[in-house]
Amino acid sequence: MTDIPRLLILGGTGEAANLAETAQTQFSGRLGVIYSMAGRTKPIRDFVTAVKVGGFGGGIGLADYIISENIKILIDATHPFAKNISANAYDACLSTDTARLSLTRPPWDLPPGTKFIEADDMKHAALILSGFAKKVLVTTGQSNLNELKKLTDIRFFIRVMGKASEKATQENYTFIDGFPPFSLDEELALIEKYNIDSLLTKQSGGTATVNKIIAAIRRRIPIVLIRRPPPEPGEHVESVEDALMWLEQKL
Ligand SMILES: NC(=O)c1ccc[n+]([C@@H]2O[C@H](COP(=O)([O-])OP(=O)(O)OC[C@H]3O[C@@H](n4cnc5c(N)ncnc54)[C@H](OP(=O)(O)O)[C@@H]3O)[C@@H](O)[C@H]2O)c1
Repeated sequence: MTDIPRLLILGGTGEAANLAETAQTQFSGRLGVIYSMAGRTKPIRDFVTAVKVGGFGGGIGLADYIISENIKILIDATHPFAKNISANAYDACLSTDTARLSLTRPPWDLPPGTKFIEADDMKHAALILSGFAKKVLVTTGQSNLNELKKLTDIRFFIRVMGKASEKATQENYTFIDGFPPFSLDEELALIEKYNIDSLLTKQSGGTATVNKIIAAIRRRIPIVLIRRPPPEPGEHVESVEDALMWLEQKL
């Protein structure tokens, strides 16, 4: 165990990885950085920091980890839709009196005139799509796909990272394997290839997956956009730069 304070970054996003790398360099000798990821997908880069792969075992497990690893600061830089780990981070930091910051990228700001409808969740999205869609590009991941399977008049083209789970397979689903980022040309080609008439996606924000939104706008395809879950209370920034400034103040 070192004498310098230790920072745990909850990751799984590009911003989290950038923060980990920059913090490791910028605060070298002043801060020990641990980067943590759920481990469902392969890391997209080699890390200069210590890396922990796999869950903690809920909020209590995370609190135990914070104590046993002598973590003094936690930055939750997980995806805006990763609500379980964020709730666990909130609970664990509260119970261990650990400083916590949320780093969440801003949502996409859709230009005036964009055809989009906001949905509360997949169930709501399915109801909306049932009114007009025939060939839908789905980029919401593999969870909650069950909500779509009853819509047998609609063909769903579901983009997943890696192999689709067998449990998710349905007659009206076609899985497309793809790992972001995707260029605008790739997104336009996908829309053309499958004759897509609607896009179902989440309000993720960020640059790695924004081209599907731009492509849908270009082709005047309606977007059904699932709203973000409410964020946990507490200090919050939207950029790596602001997270680094916050860290500087804490040290
Ligand atoms: N949801 C999305 O759309 C999305 C998109 C891109 C990337 N991601 C990333 O993928 C990961 C999983 O997303 P999810 O929506 O399944 O999250 P989730 O529902 O909030 O988390 C499920 C469980 O996965 C473990 N976990 C999640 N993030 C972790 C991390 N950074 N380090 C260690 N364990 C973690 C935790 O297990 P324990 O309870 O055992 O600790 C958590 O309870 C997140 O790290 C997220 O940043 C998610």
